[in-house]
Order: sequence, then structure tokens, then C-alpha cells
Amino acid sequence: MRVVILGSGRGSNAEAILLAQQAGKLGRARIVAVFTDKPDAGILAMGARFGVPAAFIDPAPFKTKLEGEGEVRFIAAVRGAQADLVVLAGFMRVIKPGFLNAFAGKIINLHPSLLPSFPGLDGIGQAFRRGVKVTGCTVHGVTVEVDGGPILDQTVVGVEAGDTLETLAAKVHAAEHALLPAVIARLSEPTSA
Ligand code: GAR
Repeated sequence: MRVVILGSGRGSNAEAILLAQQAGKLGRARIVAVFTDKPDAGILAMGARFGVPAAFIDPAPFKTKLEGEGEVRFIAAVRGAQADLVVLAGFMRVIKPGFLNAFAGKIINLHPSLLPSFPGLDGIGQAFRRGVKVTGCTVHGVTVEVDGGPILDQTVVGVEAGDTLETLAAKVHAAEHALLPAVIARLSEPTSA
């Protein structure tokens, strides 16, 4: 299963996926490319560190969504990589029907809350400020509804009395780093049905 990772940030989840692959824990999945919409994203270094092609792809003309010429460029890059699965690991853009239809049923997203609670930006901060006692992370299929697609798996993270936003974020990120590679590995195995 050829996997492309899309991300916009520091790339700690890309790192976790690539470390899992290195450790032989990614099932039949193979990371074939890392693409980003930010020219200075840390995720670019993750590709280089693990010997996986990594590239910035110009997302213009829009700032928060992937549509128009930028979308066409991303579709071409992911097609070029012959991706069987597209993993959004901190890709901070709204995916529109052009990209969705090009890879229908093949896109998954990681979100730092227990969806359907706290969709959108800053899922960890939203949960912390709301005072929930449990939060976590979710991997779900991507549809036109932002953070609304079918839930594939979740990990629960407890919020302790002494937690700050920083300590909670560290716990959620640690949970993400285990969950996302595990889901990719599972999706790569042939179904037994
Ligand atoms: C992760 O916490 C991920 O859940 C979040 O961005 C972070 C990326 O971190 N994604 C979203 O909030 C998507 N709505 P990383 O760049 O270190 O992997």
C-alpha cells in the first residue's frame, strides 16, 4: 500500500509513521512521499531524514482551503506518487471536492480530540478550556464535512487535575504518535472477510 503524507507543521506524526515503518511496524504500508503546503514546514526535514521524497507544493491562491490551481498541483503530485492512501497528518487546509473525488475513500485525517467533539482548529485547546475530563485523538475518513467523516479509531486521554494546556497537549500528541501508525498498518492488511 503506497502512502503519501500531507502535513503543514512540525511533522511529529510523520516522524512517528516513518519510525514505525523503520521498525517494521507499518504492516504492508510504505511511505512513498511527504508533501507540504508550507515551504518552511518541519515535516520536510522528516522526509529527508528518512530518505523519503519530500516537497513543498504551492497551494495558492487560497489561504485556508485547497482549491483551484493549488488543488490541481496537489492532485498531480499525489497521483504521480501513485498513492493508495493519503494521510493528512497536521495538514491545515480544508479539503474540497476536487481532491476528495480524485482520491475517493482513500484519504484519512488525524484530529487532536475525540470527534465529534471539538472539530476545527485547536482541538486540544478547545477541550482544555471547556474543562472536559477526557479527551484524546481520532483518525477518520475524510469527507466534505470538516472533521466529520467516518471514525476509524480513537484513543482516550484523561485530563488530570494538575494538567496545563502544555501537559495535556504532550499527552494527546503521544497518543497520536501511537494511533496513526497503528491505523495505517491495519488499513494496509488485506481484509479477512
Ligand atoms: C496534530 O496534533 C494533529 O492532530 C493536528 O495537527 C497536529 C500536527 O502535528 N491536526 C489538526 O488539528 C487537524 N484539524 P505534527 O505536525 O507534529 O504532526
